[in-house]
Amino acid sequence: MPHAKKYFANILLLYAPLILKLVDKVTEMGLAIDMICPDHGIIWRTDPSKIINAYVEWSRQKPKRKAVVIYDTMWHSTETMAETLVEALGEAGVEAKPFHLRGNHRSDIMTEVLDAGAIIVGSPTLNNGLYPTISDFLTYMKGLKPKNKVGAAFGSYGWSGEAVKRINKELELMKFDIIDPGLRIQYLPDEKGLAACRELAGKIAGALPLEKEIQK
Ligand SMILES: Cc1cc2nc3c(=O)[nH]c(=O)nc-3n(C[C@H](O)[C@H](O)[C@H](O)COP(=O)(O)O)c2cc1C
Repeated sequence: MPHAKKYFANILLLYAPLILKLVDKVTEMGLAIDMICPDHGIIWRTDPSKIINAYVEWSRQKPKRKAVVIYDTMWHSTETMAETLVEALGEAGVEAKPFHLRGNHRSDIMTEVLDAGAIIVGSPTLNNGLYPTISDFLTYMKGLKPKNKVGAAFGSYGWSGEAVKRINKELELMKFDIIDPGLRIQYLPDEKGLAACRELAGKIAGALPLEKEIQK
């Protein structure tokens, strides 16, 4: 199942609306399905409903109380912000994980994005723009058309600090609900900066559904 989820998140996610329509159509046909034999990939010989139900769940993209914090960093300032966000999100009862873009493959991060309710992206400003790995990931995620996400941006900068604005623009194009203008901190975050990270985490937690609402 983890491999099926990774395949769905990275290859099929953009077709989610079509998949839901197709499943409805097949359900209407009232067929008793013994086996699913796709063009390629594994044959589902026992209990094909397991994969059909998983495809329906993944296609609906119902957000979990989960945040994925994706970032890159040159000298660890943006990383410190990411770690503080993750810690504070955890304290607010949000399942939160940090993903350094040069330590995680984009396809593994995308698998985590699939059921997350919040996608938080951090980049230092480099040459008036984004750190290149962030542009790479945002391009990849945009193509897969994830839905029902809240988004927020953060990052450290030196003098002009364009990265946060650039991230917001991309997240807006993906129709994410941008719940904050974004957090920019000049160079190393101090106590005040870390408090601002915790405040942002609180806002993200407040925008996510509670566990009991998800179970309904
Ligand atoms: C090659 C290079 C180019 C940079 N260009 C910019 C820039 O255009 N604007 C800006 O605000 N900061 C710029 N900075 C400063 C970084 O954004 C700043 O040092 C930041 O704290 C780095 O965050 P990090 O520790 O997460 O990498 C640049 C830094 C380097 C090394």
